[in-house]
Amino acid sequence: MRLVLQLTLLPILAIALLLGACKQATQKTDQSRAKTSARTSGEPWWKEAVVYQIYPRSFKDSNGDGVGDLQGIISKLDYVKSLGIDMVWLNPIYASPNKDNGYDISDYQNIMKEFGTMQDFDALLKGFHDREIKVFMDLVVNHCSSEHAWFKSARSSRNSPYYKYFHWWPAEKGKPPYRWSIFDEKGDAWEYNKATNSYYLHYFADAQPDLNWENPQLRQEIYKMMRFWLDKGIDGFRLDAIAFCSKDTTWQPLPAEYNGQWGMYYASGPYLHDYMQEMNREVLSKYNVATVAEAMGDVERVMKFVDPDRKELNMAYYFEAIDFGYLPNEYKMPNPKGYDFVAWKKIYAKWTEAFSKKGWGTIYLANHDQPRMLTRWGNDSPEFRDAASKMLSTFILSMRGTAFYYYGDEIGMSNIKFDKVEEYNDIELLTNYAQVKAKGGDLKRFLEGMKISSRDNGRTPMQWENSENGGFGAGKPWLKVNPNYTSVNVAAQEKDPKSVLNYFRKMVQLRKKERTLIYGDFTLVDAENPSIFAYTRSLEGRTILVLLNFKAVEAKVNIDGLDLSKAKVLLGNYPDAKAINQLKPYEALVLSL
Ligand code: NOJ
Repeated sequence: MRLVLQLTLLPILAIALLLGACKQATQKTDQSRAKTSARTSGEPWWKEAVVYQIYPRSFKDSNGDGVGDLQGIISKLDYVKSLGIDMVWLNPIYASPNKDNGYDISDYQNIMKEFGTMQDFDALLKGFHDREIKVFMDLVVNHCSSEHAWFKSARSSRNSPYYKYFHWWPAEKGKPPYRWSIFDEKGDAWEYNKATNSYYLHYFADAQPDLNWENPQLRQEIYKMMRFWLDKGIDGFRLDAIAFCSKDTTWQPLPAEYNGQWGMYYASGPYLHDYMQEMNREVLSKYNVATVAEAMGDVERVMKFVDPDRKELNMAYYFEAIDFGYLPNEYKMPNPKGYDFVAWKKIYAKWTEAFSKKGWGTIYLANHDQPRMLTRWGNDSPEFRDAASKMLSTFILSMRGTAFYYYGDEIGMSNIKFDKVEEYNDIELLTNYAQVKAKGGDLKRFLEGMKISSRDNGRTPMQWENSENGGFGAGKPWLKVNPNYTSVNVAAQEKDPKSVLNYFRKMVQLRKKERTLIYGDFTLVDAENPSIFAYTRSLEGRTILVLLNFKAVEAKVNIDGLDLSKAKVLLGNYPDAKAINQLKPYEALVLSL
């Protein structure tokens, strides 16, 4: 009898001990996180954070192989700290054959060879945490790499235990229903696989097969992998292309209502939010961490991810403003007439208003999928580059929403503007170039447009100093360094108190000091003004007026009803800034009223 009792109690005891150990481990990593999250407002830390995005491939190369790496970032930890930022988002650093620079992962629990080792990662995480900087990782789980062990097994036989980790269309049923692929020359998201006599689905390149989220076993694998990183102590995830993860596996012909709007269709999978809630329940809710969703679609769709009542994710990246100003039905082809500035301001006003009621947004003007903000939204001519860079930094750091700031923008890096297709590396550009070519399109016009909008413009190596390769590293960089590194570099700007870099630091400090800039209500001022983006931020009786001239000529703003007579200049990007409503080219003024 005693023996039976012991036998039944033993497993219970073991489970209890295991649970205790897990809880302790989670508490331990949470303690290391808590150190970096002491806030006084009672609001979650991520609302107040300034995020600095590092593209590891391009930040600093420590071993001269031409590719940035983790030791390179470690050597720049003090620089990153000096910016005053609170959190770093690292683009993917996992093992990858790099068809899409790390967004094709072949092993989620290992580090990319060129970037270093797991020991390097642990040292990097500690280095950031010791400096009270949090670390976000990219979570790329809509798809993996065709080199991932799961896919290699799946593609070998329909009997593979991993076959159901992917989406397949058996060839005996004929051709699969058309789906569009973003990085496929033929634009076809189904790729035939001979060994299984079936087609697999890839919304991105054929080397990026989509994972089958409809399979609960696959979802558990993903959650396990997330716990692996969270237990190491990372502070959260940016969820790549997450809106695409759920698919309608009845594979109906595309509903007419989407009319070529692939992003919208792909972001409307039937179980998308069930999966997000499950992920929250099973993983995220157990840790003191935060998440940001790469969320496609309109306000209603995006809001679902971040409405706190739904218990899914925390912050949303949205695309309406950043994708503005391109010609319809063409790949990122800038409208030669420029963009409608008044309409652009209203997009920000609309999203900001939505997030003031519920959820929480982000503000950014660049990332690894965008060109440099200075070229696209400012002015990179020698005459205006300083003022325009500072003005754009003022915008990002004075809006409502968590600020996401891209490496290199703090010194005013600009587009490299490649002349030849051979100079590019990016799969997105190369796919689109091939498509234009196949159709007999105007390749010259295409390449001209790409000088403004292509992703590689935003991926050139960081410009540290005026020495070979801009101080990025000793070897030939994987992507050309912008030749303007001789004048646009960190070392030069460190010495100059009026530099773009030092202005950025001041603006970060101002945002931290002024709760109004974080939580204050946002109101657009002189909405129809064709040159100036003007708005107030108001909280608990304090009002801050932000005036930003987005044009290369002087402009006046109608501040109707607002009294400037006692206004104080908190920050301005011209010397001797005055609280007036007439702005110099690219002038930025932050005024307390
Ligand atoms: C979005 C990422 O930001 C982009 O760089 C990547 O190419 C696609 N998702 C596919 O992962």
